[in-house]
Amino acid sequence: MPACFVTRRLPGDALARLAAEHEVDVWPDRLPPQREALIDRLQGCAGLLCLLTDPIDAALIDACPDLRAISCFAVGSDNVDLEAATARGIPVGTTPGVLTEATADLTFALILAAGRRLEEAASEVRAGDWLTWEPARLLGEDVHGATLGIVGLGRIGRAVARRAEGFGMRVIHHGRRDGLALGDLLRQSDFVSLHCPLTPATRGLIGERELQAMKTSASLVNVARGPIVDTRALERALREGWIAAAALDVTDPEPLPADHPLLGAPRLTVVPHVASATRAAREAIGAMAVDNLLAGLAGARMPHCANPQVYDRPD
Ligand code: GLV
Repeated sequence: MPACFVTRRLPGDALARLAAEHEVDVWPDRLPPQREALIDRLQGCAGLLCLLTDPIDAALIDACPDLRAISCFAVGSDNVDLEAATARGIPVGTTPGVLTEATADLTFALILAAGRRLEEAASEVRAGDWLTWEPARLLGEDVHGATLGIVGLGRIGRAVARRAEGFGMRVIHHGRRDGLALGDLLRQSDFVSLHCPLTPATRGLIGERELQAMKTSASLVNVARGPIVDTRALERALREGWIAAAALDVTDPEPLPADHPLLGAPRLTVVPHVASATRAAREAIGAMAVDNLLAGLAGARMPHCANPQVYDRPD
């Protein structure tokens, strides 16, 4: 019975299913295991179920000779060195599909929060600054009828586009293989929403030049990965009025320390990477992550594998 290490407790009953077939060690803390602890707990383990906060790099994979299957509790697998895993013949599972709608819902919440200044409005009430109704108070930008620029029209981008139809928005997109050039999308959009994976090509995709290309009335929404946006450039863009607002579910660094200078920028909403955080979505992610791990440990093809080329390697 090969052993598995799970780097955090999970909602739902997925881990019980794993434990019915394998010896399971679950990291008990709220914070992630440090690298040394992770390597230590993985000795003798064939399976790893990890979170996006656990960097699984080549050296770590090398230091864990018994590892045969890695399963991510996430649709993104950028925390895992896929090349190193593939070279070792280790399949890496991910969880596409089950968090699409929850993530698109949160994207829309952020679009609305950015355009309609929800964070400032709510905090003014709490601060006792609601003295009367004022005609020119907290004026924002219309969401209905606006142009939404989606960067990365995959599953989640398309789910956001479906919601935008209900708001009468004009939807344009930029993708690796299709859509508008990024510069054209940035110049035309009232809301720019990022949905591409983090890869060497998308790291720093939105920097000074791109933020300066946006309309001064536009908002940037990021629910993809923090390093797609250059944090210092975004801070300048908000402070100097290159864009009107930003709303982020993901940041760089992540977590964003409470005293980070970005948090002092105007018209910024930041939530702590909660796009898939509905009970149903997180339970479904757990179930899919366990299905992937069970398949990997049984030597069967993982239902959702980020490095399927691992199955084509000669033995
Ligand atoms: C969340 O960010 C995920 O990749 O599932």
